[in-house]
Amino acid sequence: MKVKKPPAHPSGVTAPKFNKDQLPKHVAVVMDGNGRWAKNRGLPRTEGHKAGEAALIDLIYGAIEIGVKEVSAFAFSTENWKRSPEEVKFLMNFSREVLRSRRDELNTVGVKIRWIGQEKRLMKSVIDELLSAEKLTEKNKVLTLNMCVNYGGRAEISAAAAKLASDAKRGKVSLKSITEKSFAKYFEVSDVDLFLRSSGEMRTSNFLPWQSVYSELVFMDVLWPDVDRRVLWQAIEEYVRRDRRYGKA
Ligand code: FPP
Repeated sequence: MKVKKPPAHPSGVTAPKFNKDQLPKHVAVVMDGNGRWAKNRGLPRTEGHKAGEAALIDLIYGAIEIGVKEVSAFAFSTENWKRSPEEVKFLMNFSREVLRSRRDELNTVGVKIRWIGQEKRLMKSVIDELLSAEKLTEKNKVLTLNMCVNYGGRAEISAAAAKLASDAKRGKVSLKSITEKSFAKYFEVSDVDLFLRSSGEMRTSNFLPWQSVYSELVFMDVLWPDVDRRVLWQAIEEYVRRDRRYGKA
């Protein structure tokens, strides 16, 4: 199948020219502010989540247009189970519906979908949808989309530590050989270059903590449903201006 270009933004705006070496390879997004967006309009919170779907898709198109290779989206955290049963149920069904209705168009533009998160408590129908989206798009190479559903960073680190302990117990790794680099292999998601959060909140909320220790953080003063590819490009302009030193002088 021939990979298509992503559809243009309705405004006709074109992507700024970025120097490829300066671009973030991996962008993580905390899609925050759906509830407030809906409340501002006198709508139920769930309407905010619905409006957030198009924002995510447009951000992915914008990422493809400039050559970002990986996007991690925080769709449902292990803490989100604390929301009302109605909202949890909505978010579960919604994740399933979004995957079902968007996987073909994401496939057409070469997006490889990966599910990152825990099975515990997730409905089988949601897991099935995530797995079938993964299967459909597994050979794609344009951009990897990590759909973080039922994801928690500390849980991810604990699971990685448990796997390492089990390998050590079986004699597969020696205690002396354990380093940051060898431990990093127990994680499915690579280091994040640019960490974005919408809605003006300045927290990382247990999203990719191992991978984001050297990320550039950009907090965008816009509610998630109002995000589109132009907001991503602005954040990347900010990223390009930053001086990433990784502890060096
Ligand atoms: C946080 O806003 C948002 C979420 C918990 C859900 C994010 C999901 C989407 C944007 C839909 C697209 C993704 C899928 C499922 C494929 P909030 O509810 O915390 O907003 P608030 O802080 O204003 O209350």
